[in-house]
Amino acid sequence: MSLFKKEKKVRCHLEQNSYDIVIGSSIIQNAGQIIAKIARNDTVLIMTNQKIGAVYLPLISGSLKRQGIKAIRHLVPDGEKAKSEKQLFRLMKVLIENRFERSSMIIALGGGVIGDLAGFAASIFMRGIDFVNVPTTLLAQVDSAIGGKTGINLPEGKNLVGSFYQPKVVIADSATLSTLPEKELINGMAEVIKYGMLFDHLFFEYVEKNIDAIFDLDLEVIERIVTKCVQYKTKVVERDEKESGLRAVLNLGHTFGHALETVGQYKKITHGMAVALGMQAAGRLANKLEMFDGESLERLIGVIDKAHLPTSIVPYNLDKAALLGAMYGDKKVKDKKIRLILPVEIGSVVIRDDIKPALIKEAFTF
Ligand code: NAD
Ligand code: GLY
Repeated sequence: MSLFKKEKKVRCHLEQNSYDIVIGSSIIQNAGQIIAKIARNDTVLIMTNQKIGAVYLPLISGSLKRQGIKAIRHLVPDGEKAKSEKQLFRLMKVLIENRFERSSMIIALGGGVIGDLAGFAASIFMRGIDFVNVPTTLLAQVDSAIGGKTGINLPEGKNLVGSFYQPKVVIADSATLSTLPEKELINGMAEVIKYGMLFDHLFFEYVEKNIDAIFDLDLEVIERIVTKCVQYKTKVVERDEKESGLRAVLNLGHTFGHALETVGQYKKITHGMAVALGMQAAGRLANKLEMFDGESLERLIGVIDKAHLPTSIVPYNLDKAALLGAMYGDKKVKDKKIRLILPVEIGSVVIRDDIKPALIKEAFTF
C-alpha cells in the first residue's frame, strides 16, 4: 500500500541490490517513514550544503526524529568542488568521530554533486554502509540518483575515482524543484530530452507540448516527466548495471558534449548545454549519413531551443581540431575508436564506432 496519496514508486530490480525510487510532491516531509523501514541504526548522517540544507534539512530531520532517528548534519561546499578527496576524507573523519558502523546510513540531500560524493563515501566507508539519495535537482531526479554511479573528481579529470554502488531507496520530491535556479532546471532538461530521443517518440512529443508547463513548475507535469525518465533509466540499469554494453546509450550527446566542456574549460558551457549541443551534433551527423531525417532533426533543434538550451556552437569560438582531439581523450574511447550514439529516428538510436574523424569534426559546424 502507498504511504502517501500522491506518490509513485518505480522499482529498480537488481537481485539483492534492488530498490525503490519514490516520486511525489512534498514527500520529503515524510521521508522519515520511508527511511525508518530500512534504517538499521538510530543515527544517520545527512550530507547537504548550506543552500539546500537551509530549506530542506529541517523537513527531513524532523520527519526522521518523529521515527526516533537522530540525524547528524554534514555540510559540504556548494558546487563541483565538493566532489574532492578533501571533502571525502573530511567526511570519513566525521563518520569515525560519530562511531558510525557497518550498519549505519548516509543520506544525500542535494543535486548530483552531493549524491555522487555521498554515494562514493558510503561505498567505501567500512567497505560499504547504507546509502539513501534524496535528489533535489531535475538532473539528479532523472539521471544521477538512479543507477549507482558514484564518484569524485581528481585535478586530472572529472569522475576519475568512483564506484558502482546502489542506494537503498531514492526519494525524489518534485516540490524541491520550486527553489531550483532556472539555469539548473534548463540543465536537467537536456537529459529529459535525451530520454525522448533514446526511447520514446510519444514522450518526446509530450515534452515538446509541455515545455511551458515545466518552466511554470506544474508539479503534475514534472512528476510525470520524472517518473517516465526514471522508468527508462532503471530499465537500462537493470539490463546493464556496470555499463558493459547497453548502458552506453545513455551517453547520447555526451561524447560530443564532454569535448565541448573540456575545450571550453567548463566555463561558459554547462553540462546541460554541452549535452544539448552534443545531441544536435549527433543528429546533424546522423542526418549527413542519411540515417536520420531532416524533419526529425528540426524537431530536436526546436525542443532544445524551447528549453532555453543553445542551438549553435559558433558563439563559443572553439577550435574544431581541439574538439576532435578531446573526443579521443574521452573515457569511452575503445581501441582508439570513438563510439558514438546516433539517432535513427526520434525514440531510437544506434551505437557506431566506424565514423571517419573528418565527419565527426565536421559535425561541430553549426
Ligand atoms: P549540483 O549538484 O551542483 O546542483 C546544482 C546547483 O543547484 C548547486 O548550486 C546546488 O546547491 C543547487 N541546488 C540543488 N538543489 C537545489 C534546490 N532544490 N533548490 C535550490 N538550489 C538547489 O548539480 P547537478 O546538475 O544536480 O549535478 C551535477 C553532478 O552530477 C556532476 O558532478 C556530474 O558529474 C554528476 N552526474 C552524475 C551522474 C551519475 O550517474 N552518478 C549522472 C549525471 C551527472
Ligand atoms: N549518466 C549516465 C549513466 O548513468 O550511465
